[in-house]
Amino acid sequence: MRNIVAGNWKSNKLMNEAREFTDAFLPALDELNGTTEVYIAPPAPYLAALTPSASGRLQWASQQCSAHGAGAYTGEFTAEMVRSAGAQGVLIGHSERREGFGESEEAVRAKVQHALKAGLRVFLCCGESLEQREAGQPERVIFAQLESALDGVSDTSDLVIAYEPIWAIGTGRTASSEQAQDMHQSIRGWLAERFGAPVAAGIPILYGGSCKPSNAEELFSQPDVNGGLIGGASLNVEDFLELVRIADAVSAS
Ligand code: 13P
Repeated sequence: MRNIVAGNWKSNKLMNEAREFTDAFLPALDELNGTTEVYIAPPAPYLAALTPSASGRLQWASQQCSAHGAGAYTGEFTAEMVRSAGAQGVLIGHSERREGFGESEEAVRAKVQHALKAGLRVFLCCGESLEQREAGQPERVIFAQLESALDGVSDTSDLVIAYEPIWAIGTGRTASSEQAQDMHQSIRGWLAERFGAPVAAGIPILYGGSCKPSNAEELFSQPDVNGGLIGGASLNVEDFLELVRIADAVSAS
């Protein structure tokens, strides 16, 4: 399976800064010649302007989409709109949306359904809080999130799981490579029970949470870690390129 490195810009960068990033990033990415799939999820208003500037390797994603189809939903944008703006993927269920914007399990499930139907690659985010980890069995929290979000899903060819422990997001506190591998292995096990082992073996599971050039090699080398979903370090061209280089090197070794 090819590694994936995906950048989540969150609410950062103005349009001119996004263009400056891509102007520097795209030619440098084209020179790398690796196999890692690369995605960037910029603020949604920039998608249609940025998606024509593709390279062989860079694909674009939205940071979310509506739980509804087209209609009278002021301010919402549907999965089909994301696709028609030229994006190939969408992040769904990020903890910042679940916690900060009241995104319910039902909404996450509806978004997954809409996004898969629209032909988008779905980066389904899951993760436990520090409290939940310290209470023991954080796997149970993750399994419940997956169970709910993937209810009714049978075709996983466009599915990517992103494990993002909430206590590691933007805190500088990364999960150790053992903690990440343990959880990724558990997630793979859950996927195997749900979809069968051969299918589960082909579903990429990304790690997210303070992942940066200094810790990426160890994380990406774990057998069940297939790359990363990157926040802060995706805002800087050199850091993000270095993460792609590391993912390329790990899969070539
Ligand atoms: P940081 O890499 O800034 O911790 O963010 C991770 C994340 O939330 C990516 O979706």
